[in-house]
Amino acid sequence: MVSFLSCATQTHSLKPRAIITSALPYANGEIHLGHVASTYLPADVTTRFLKMNGVEAYYVCASDDFGTPILIQAEKEKKTPQEYVAHWNKRDYDDFTAFDICFDFFYRTSSPENIQFVRYVFEKLKQNGHIYETEIIQFYCKNDQKFLPDRYVVGVCPYCKAVDQYSDLCEKCGRVPEEIENPKCAICGQPPTKEKTTHYFFRLKNFGDQLTKWLEENEHLQKDVKKYVQNWISSGLIDWDITRDITWGVPIPGDESKVFYGWFDNHLAYISTVMKFLGDKGIDGREFWNSADIYHFIGKDIVYHHYLFLPAMRLGINQEYKLPDYIPTRGHLTLQSKKISKSRNWYIGLRDFLSHYPADYLRYYLVSINPYSQDDLNFDWDDFATRINSELIANVGNLVNRALGFTKKTFGTIPEPDDLDEKDKDAEMKIKTLLSEMTPLMEQNHLDRALKKVMEFSIYFNQYFQHKEPWKKGPGTNSCVYLSVNAVHAIALALSPFLPQSAQKIWVQLGMPGKTTDHPWSAISEIAIQPGHVLGEIAPIFVRVEDADIKARKEELGTK
Ligand code: MF3
Ligand code: ZN
Repeated sequence: MVSFLSCATQTHSLKPRAIITSALPYANGEIHLGHVASTYLPADVTTRFLKMNGVEAYYVCASDDFGTPILIQAEKEKKTPQEYVAHWNKRDYDDFTAFDICFDFFYRTSSPENIQFVRYVFEKLKQNGHIYETEIIQFYCKNDQKFLPDRYVVGVCPYCKAVDQYSDLCEKCGRVPEEIENPKCAICGQPPTKEKTTHYFFRLKNFGDQLTKWLEENEHLQKDVKKYVQNWISSGLIDWDITRDITWGVPIPGDESKVFYGWFDNHLAYISTVMKFLGDKGIDGREFWNSADIYHFIGKDIVYHHYLFLPAMRLGINQEYKLPDYIPTRGHLTLQSKKISKSRNWYIGLRDFLSHYPADYLRYYLVSINPYSQDDLNFDWDDFATRINSELIANVGNLVNRALGFTKKTFGTIPEPDDLDEKDKDAEMKIKTLLSEMTPLMEQNHLDRALKKVMEFSIYFNQYFQHKEPWKKGPGTNSCVYLSVNAVHAIALALSPFLPQSAQKIWVQLGMPGKTTDHPWSAISEIAIQPGHVLGEIAPIFVRVEDADIKARKEELGTK
């Protein structure tokens, strides 16, 4: 019997506590692949990784309920905004759950706790001199007797002349019009008038130096993102109009007929949601927050809000709640190399996808194609099929099936290994070093590269098994199956954050008790399966993706 050294590398840079959030989904439409690729999935994988490392980690999220687009949509559907957002809150949560996005708590920006917290933050900012009032001119519809912020006005983009654009954003050229041409009320179509109204502004300009300092000092933020945020700062920040003359939002203290702009209240729900969740558990939420690593996972379209507005507001209340440590920012998903567009039906709903393929197939594919950068990534149906069939199934599926199937059939239980030859020693070393190869990549958010290490490890063991030809039952057979089964054990744990269901299936086939997630991440490097161990029932873990199916998927695209 050979004795194996365990070389579990301790992860020194992780704090024992962590809070993870991902950009709060607007409560006005279904979750699609674009959403999950850039934020929810990377955040979920990271949380699972942290938990396996013994970190007390909580992943919280909420629906983003306020704002003019939501109010307009609710009005169109003849629902109250409350009913409307309650529908999407539940639907989003159900879809995330079906995709094994495992939130510790999913709440809403319209919660009483958030409303109270937002009002508190406003008062505090005001006391600290970061808020001022000023009179502005706003579009107003005499017919509907309403002020018309943002999406309530449509017209012609002054830059590219595209018709039917919102006054706060031209979807054609991506610019924010200074003043839209030929304005019309989005509700009744009448041309609006202009009226005076008093708005609150947040003095973002006050925070340039502090933000610069924070960006310089935080080594975890992505360098390229930092660079252009620093450029924004040096080219001059502008104060933010935080008032909206509508009824759906957090009422402004002292001026209850008006509400806060959605971007004033939504990110505060990161904090209020965590306080609610931890408070209910009897934990001092603020103390926890301030001693934890704070992660906000986002897509690159909301960098401005998360690197400037959010930290400035926290600075403005004397950092009662500390600033984020990590803001992992990723690019957008394109679909068959074209921009995703819900209005043109060019998107794939998460629920629809999961009616065809297992969650883990999508998780595998989206992590694999998603580097830790702001580069856009592309979902391609053929590439999806190829990667599932030739990487996941032909590599991992094959190794698991061969190693466990052959061992079970030939030996019944795990045999005593023979003396190890050079090849075996090399294989043993691979098991011991997978952990230390993966851990730094996981900690640094290079999830795609960490997953690739598992795939390379599996390729190695397929080759090792092939080379050893254990089916010939020559000398060395026992060592080969002994090490191959232990390699599968390492794979099950290493895949657990990425492919939780498949990892668990492998775990059960290994005859291991409990859940992969009950075992520490460091157990990846252990030769844990010992002679005499009895394997479970062996069956294929994955089912091939068929060409005919993929053809059907491609034909469906854009049609529903
Ligand atoms: N709902 C916003 C969006 O989809 C994201 C809000 S993230 C928050 O762009 F932190 F600000 F809430
Ligand atoms: Zn009108």
